[in-house]
Amino acid sequence: MTANELRRKYIEFFLTKEHKEIRGKSLIPENDPTVLFTTAGMHPLVPYILGEPHPAGKRLVNFQKCIRTGDIEAVGDPHHLTFFEMLGNWSLGDYFKEEAIRMSYEFLTSGEWLGLSADVLSVTVFAGDLPGAEGEPVPPDEESAAVWRSLGIPDDRIYFLPRSDNWWGPAGATGPCGPDTEMFIDTGREPCGTGCRPGCHCGKYFEIWNDVFMQYNKNADGTYVPLKRTCVDTGMGIERTAAVLQRKTSVYETEMFVPLIQVIEELSGVMLGASDDLDISIRIVSDHIRTAAFILGDEKGVKPSNLGQGYILRRLIRRAIRHGRKLGVKGSLLLKPAERVVEIYHSTYPELKQNVQVILEELAAEEQRFVKTLKHGEIEFEKLLPNLLKNPKKIIPGRVAFKLYDTYGFPIEITEELAREHGFTVDREGFQQAFEKHQELSKQGADKSFKGGLADHSEMTTRLHTATHLLHQALRMVLGDHVQQKGSNITPERLRFDFSHPEKMTPEQIKKVEEIVNDQIKGDLPVSMEIMSITEAKDAGALAFFGDKYDEQVKVYTVDGFSKEVCGGPHVEHTGALGRFHIKKEQSSSSGIRRIRAVLE
Ligand code: ALA
Repeated sequence: MTANELRRKYIEFFLTKEHKEIRGKSLIPENDPTVLFTTAGMHPLVPYILGEPHPAGKRLVNFQKCIRTGDIEAVGDPHHLTFFEMLGNWSLGDYFKEEAIRMSYEFLTSGEWLGLSADVLSVTVFAGDLPGAEGEPVPPDEESAAVWRSLGIPDDRIYFLPRSDNWWGPAGATGPCGPDTEMFIDTGREPCGTGCRPGCHCGKYFEIWNDVFMQYNKNADGTYVPLKRTCVDTGMGIERTAAVLQRKTSVYETEMFVPLIQVIEELSGVMLGASDDLDISIRIVSDHIRTAAFILGDEKGVKPSNLGQGYILRRLIRRAIRHGRKLGVKGSLLLKPAERVVEIYHSTYPELKQNVQVILEELAAEEQRFVKTLKHGEIEFEKLLPNLLKNPKKIIPGRVAFKLYDTYGFPIEITEELAREHGFTVDREGFQQAFEKHQELSKQGADKSFKGGLADHSEMTTRLHTATHLLHQALRMVLGDHVQQKGSNITPERLRFDFSHPEKMTPEQIKKVEEIVNDQIKGDLPVSMEIMSITEAKDAGALAFFGDKYDEQVKVYTVDGFSKEVCGGPHVEHTGALGRFHIKKEQSSSSGIRRIRAVLE
């Protein structure tokens, strides 16, 4: 079954269940500053889920273009994409859990519709909150589990999972949310370990559909208020479901990607299957160009820039080019694959065809700009070469690599690439040291006059910097208000955070802190900055722990509804950009001070 057939069948099925078809919307949300892109089919429907009557009635169905950049680091695995299409059906105060699950089951398994075997279906339901959870704890979703049992799904394929897995929303900082039940197809692959279960990223389980039972509205102050009427919001991923129906092991083997990957193979001369590493690059290039084409070709298309949606677009394009270089592409990379994207999708999304000129022109211009940056760095590298060649060990010193990075914005990976071409290696450790030293110096400067600004504004450190704020607040929530920042150090690889706390953290506490941080990332909260006096900042409840070293006016960064800190910045604009937060180590730093090392994966 092709994606086109799947879209048609889904709509048809729900029409037979008295739903009305509505049109999908733009990727750029309307009147909603809480997210940069439409991340789910429910997003344009938020006002109706909150109680507005919808002109088409109480049962709706559609397909929607979506972008989620929170998963960008996972792109390259069998099932994560930055752009995807979502099929959805909604009940606005009409049916609830039982009917929603029964309809999902019928569509998946009935021979008249998808005809999947119920034997490969696993489901997850909400395990309920632990006592002491934020707000009113929500009990385990026994009701959904009972419906699945009555449909014949045995208990060993019904998984009760915590909030981090089985709670959906809000899509932005505030809005409707509730427990969900998710449907997974077991691909039959070997489990990756004893903890392998639906939700694991190894590729054994494909999540294809999510039925969310919208029961609460999360307010800006963090409270959950029951909705006037309960609603159902479901989302089925077209790429993943098509892959399952076509018995493929990844979304990249479906007709939505094959012609696109073919052209990347032609441009690079590298075939899928050459090596795991190169396969990932081919997948990243195809995913990112596809997403860029959809953003540029959207009915409200945006251009590459250094702000908001435009910045995400720029990052996607530049990351694609970098991976293209890794594949050996020498000339222009973007245009031919982008043309393929338009060919694949223009009948479903005519806006792509209408905007094809804009797509191609903007991609060409951005490619030229980035190539110029790279050229600049290469010229500098060539200038350095005679001196480098005198070094018998053929190692490029870390401070040289750092200078290229710091002065010309030359990514370290590209320096390594050039180095390899000349038979050199790069002293990565030295690079790291130069980096940290630079940061230390800049910190001293910052201590003198608190104007803010980390030594390095590269993407990774910015993300880790925002993650540090989330970690700080999460530690205070889990361990108590005595937690105070005692030190912070960020490299492109990891954050290190020292804080006051008298004893070793338990594994449960560490897990809880990770969950809280990841929930804020999942929520894609906006991060905003205001300049105010230090007194105003303290009155506004901002955390500030550097004694009296502040200037009169300070910057206060707010992660919407979650944390507020006096800080020099920089920070990401939305927490969704962070990826997955993981604590690597918790240890003693000195008496009464603990130290955490954490990464974004
Ligand atoms: N809004 C739900 C999701 O995106 C259906 O998974």
